[in-house]
Amino acid sequence: MHTTDADESLLIRGIGSLIAVPRGPLCGAAMSALPTIRDAAIVIENGRLAWFGPQRDLPAGAAALPSLDARGGCVIPGLIDCHTHIPFAGDRVEEFVRRVAGESYLSIMQAGGGIRVTMRAVRAANEAQLVDQALPRLRRMLAGGVTTVECKSGYGLSAEDELKQLRAIRALAERVPQRLVPTYMGAHAVPPEFEGRADAFVEHIAADDLLNTIARERLARFCDVFCDRGAFDVAQARRVLERGLHHGLIPKLHADELAQIGASALAGELRAASADHLEHLDEAGMEAMRRGGVTAVVLPGTSFFLGIPHADARKMIRSGLAVALATDCNPGSCMIESLAFILHIACCQLRMLPSEALAACTANAAAALRMQDEIGAIERGMAADLVALDCGRLEEWFYTPGRERVRVVVCGGRVVHQAE
Ligand code: NIG
Ligand code: FE
Repeated sequence: MHTTDADESLLIRGIGSLIAVPRGPLCGAAMSALPTIRDAAIVIENGRLAWFGPQRDLPAGAAALPSLDARGGCVIPGLIDCHTHIPFAGDRVEEFVRRVAGESYLSIMQAGGGIRVTMRAVRAANEAQLVDQALPRLRRMLAGGVTTVECKSGYGLSAEDELKQLRAIRALAERVPQRLVPTYMGAHAVPPEFEGRADAFVEHIAADDLLNTIARERLARFCDVFCDRGAFDVAQARRVLERGLHHGLIPKLHADELAQIGASALAGELRAASADHLEHLDEAGMEAMRRGGVTAVVLPGTSFFLGIPHADARKMIRSGLAVALATDCNPGSCMIESLAFILHIACCQLRMLPSEALAACTANAAAALRMQDEIGAIERGMAADLVALDCGRLEEWFYTPGRERVRVVVCGGRVVHQAE
């Protein structure tokens, strides 16, 4: 996990506009009310935000710090990708073409394709190979301004292979500047050796000794379950998540993606950190999530990639939920690494305002990871994870989909990426 040290002090000056995102979760209308400071500066001390405001008010002494010129660009909090399936192995290019030709994700999965194909590739890979395949991906994400990445297991689907994936995440965290947040997702699919015996598989991946190892070695902070038609039902998901909770793992759910079977209501009941996907969210699920303080993680890259209807993010915002956005980066349903691209889909197709989309991948993504007191906001004391864009206003970034506009990435007060 990323650490800060005493040398990480820096002055960022020449900021055209600083989007001072408040600490999450930002619910409903609060998502679009982001304060903007023109002609701003930031002072970083010990890897944390020590001061920010109009540059003309810069505190005495700050001018002597090592400095970075934002050259009139817009500065925002480091982006947080709060839902990925990194690390994985191999690809599913053939399935992609079959889907484009008309087959559905579910029919391919029911015919033995889908998650099981990646499971075989992950089982065949060792920890070092999983690390090697993920590293360039994480580096590209960093260049895109992503300073925190949630990473899931879920392609091992046996105690041993799930642990291998989680240990690969831990090894990756030592190798990249980003903060990596690990999630255990043993209940992602039923592997062939348990075909027709989902309950027995649940006992296997939620066994006390396995959860004990995960907790003891701090291999995961969250436990996630794919609770949907063709995956795990509500009773099975509840069993896994309650066992996880008993071992200190915070619940998350893949909910209401393919059908409405009560997964979002379960998320509310368990006060999960987040319910993710939500293409088929209903009123009961929405109400349960609001009551349970569950962040709604919308993954428009997946609906784009699968060609299915988008989740109704506008309705969620109107109902007062905190909405987050993430890539869902995985080889089957969304081989998209670019969080910026996801933000553009959210803006153009889900009609989220630029300010809402930014809140969704900063303050609210932090809330989906229960890290809102540490990252995702521009407040004194927060970790200095920041991105400088090459345009002066946030709206210009959203106006130019596909154009690379991240100029500088700072993580924990250190400059970790600078565009040519
Ligand atoms: O989040 N929905 C379930 N799991 C992944 C897809 C995984 C895969 O197809 O490999 C998702 O979309
Ligand atoms: Fe997912």
